[in-house]
Amino acid sequence: MIQKYVFGRPFETEAVVLEMEAKEGVPEYGETSFGEGFVWTYRLGDEDVVYGLGEANRGINKRGYCYISNNTDIPEHTEDQRSLYGAHNFFVVSGVRTFGLFVDYPAKVTFDIGYTRMDTLKICCEEADLYLYVIEGESAYEIVRQFRKMIGRSYIAPKFAFGYGQSRWEYATKEDFYRVAEGYRKNHIPMDMVYMDIDYMQDYKDFTLHTENFSDFPEFVQGMKENHLRLIPIIDAGVKVEKGYEIYEEGVKNGYFCKREDGSDFVAAVWPGDTHFPDVLNPEARKWFGEKYRILTEQGIEGFWNDMNEPAIFYTPEGVEKAQKVVKEFLEDTEGKTSIFEVRDAIMNLANNEEDYRSFYHQADGKKVRHDKVHNLFGCNMTRAASEAFERIAPEKRFLMFSRSSYIGMHRYGGIWTGDNKSWWSHLLLNLKMMPSLNMCGFLYTGADLGGFGTDTTRDLLLRWLALGVFTPLMRNHAALGTRKQECYQFEHIEDFRHVIEVRYRLIPYLYSEYMKAALNDDLYFKPLAFTYPKDPMALQVEDQLMLGDEIMIAPVYTQNAKGRYVYLPEEMKFVKFLPDGTLSEQTLPAGHHYVEIALNEVPLFIRQNKCIPLASPAEYVDALDTKNLTLIGYKNTSYSLYEDDGIHKDYDLNKNTKILKY
Ligand code: GLC
Repeated sequence: MIQKYVFGRPFETEAVVLEMEAKEGVPEYGETSFGEGFVWTYRLGDEDVVYGLGEANRGINKRGYCYISNNTDIPEHTEDQRSLYGAHNFFVVSGVRTFGLFVDYPAKVTFDIGYTRMDTLKICCEEADLYLYVIEGESAYEIVRQFRKMIGRSYIAPKFAFGYGQSRWEYATKEDFYRVAEGYRKNHIPMDMVYMDIDYMQDYKDFTLHTENFSDFPEFVQGMKENHLRLIPIIDAGVKVEKGYEIYEEGVKNGYFCKREDGSDFVAAVWPGDTHFPDVLNPEARKWFGEKYRILTEQGIEGFWNDMNEPAIFYTPEGVEKAQKVVKEFLEDTEGKTSIFEVRDAIMNLANNEEDYRSFYHQADGKKVRHDKVHNLFGCNMTRAASEAFERIAPEKRFLMFSRSSYIGMHRYGGIWTGDNKSWWSHLLLNLKMMPSLNMCGFLYTGADLGGFGTDTTRDLLLRWLALGVFTPLMRNHAALGTRKQECYQFEHIEDFRHVIEVRYRLIPYLYSEYMKAALNDDLYFKPLAFTYPKDPMALQVEDQLMLGDEIMIAPVYTQNAKGRYVYLPEEMKFVKFLPDGTLSEQTLPAGHHYVEIALNEVPLFIRQNKCIPLASPAEYVDALDTKNLTLIGYKNTSYSLYEDDGIHKDYDLNKNTKILKY
């Protein structure tokens, strides 16, 4: 059962698709108070577990920390970060009382989950203008499923997007891309996508191509496609301020950019230098910006990643002026009144400064809305702009689309990647923990930068991370400018990398089928163990293993130099290892704790009792997969319902596209 409450005058985020009447009063759960803004508190039972919050730091059980929904360009995902790139304000309390809560409020929200007081969950919004949804159900899992129904069907990617992709912020010329393509093809490491980061553009101008490097872009795209590779360009939120640049000129002329209080176009510096932000909350401007994707789709592009859409601000002219003043004061100060720390802070605080977010406006619903009040909706609406445009460009076709910043609701328009992680073992584990929470909030097509984005990766970390990436719908290796080369063919024993990625391709029929079932049934692709085994107190505590679909459990190795790991099996399972020679080892393990050995070049998974999964033969790209000849592994005398469609169009009929495979 879902109850909707309305407080004040909320901004219509369009996160929820289910229509329902709002109830009078306040929720029966917790205590609602209004003072400065909106405060809701709930007394947690000792054993209560809190799930959800999507792209948030720390564990699957969110209890014990404080999280703030405030979309931020934050390349330091250290444990103390309270805000990342997304705002996913849905959680479930599971325990003494089990219920879910969705705070539909697009500005900053603080979730203090037993942080200030161990037994208190406290939510604060700066203003009491919001919708609150309370969901009751039998279990945390069942509540999540009701929530997912309420927010509408998750984005479905084309099938090629379930292949492997290589990315690096550095590729600039055609030769760079050919080198990557060749590195993979020559070494027979499967791959479907090569990502184009900002250097493909002319001076970082959205929807332009570097004139010297890409004079014959459509031929280049076509040539890559003949090699079964898709090029996936990045699109940034800020539009470069430059006289004569068509998109800039059009935006200024039509008033499609976010404006300052005085009506002038707001200026923020990002990669291109000064930019204006397209006002994607204004439907007309959103449509205009979305139409620009056509410039690239007409040249053969079938997928994009939207970036810097928190929106990220490196600095504003106003901010610089203030910082200059502080520096000047410091330099002219002969009495030592200004400290060097003030100077440092003035410079450090130039980027993503709260004051800047309070100094520009949107034209939404015919009203002028100050940005900070709807901050968490920017990335969502940028991606919505693209998705709505794809519907017009080719209504029957799927495009690959994922974004860095998001709000619940955006899950209908695209996926997300989890932003600028580092080549740290702890971030491999964070990747794993975040996945089920993201799924709960509707984001199914997700993944992290495999191998780590910032800092230098190592061969073992990349291999272990890929062995997790085998299972994440988005499987992309991405690295930052200046870091160690991270393409699989840069390392010793390339065959190990080939093997791990081949396992992904062998599993695609299964992974794709499970993805589609999850999307079409508003279900989870990744689940915490406790969702499948709610009565098992041990399963409740497991934070480093996940259930995938109905058939398997994954338990990747995430520790340096480890030769294996401990796993907990809530029931008897088949422990399967994909061995480097292409064969499999299968071992039935009883329920309980085990230490399992897993070499660097092996991929482990666990098949649940009385289940089986299909496997294809390896292929170098998705289109080459022979899905007609699948073998089954797992428990004999069982069957698997395989969902399969053409992977291109939107004919998603579950019944029509599902067949039973018997083992
Ligand atoms: C941002 C993105 C990263 C990208 C870089 C350059 O940091 O998160 O993925 O490589 O910008 O475009």
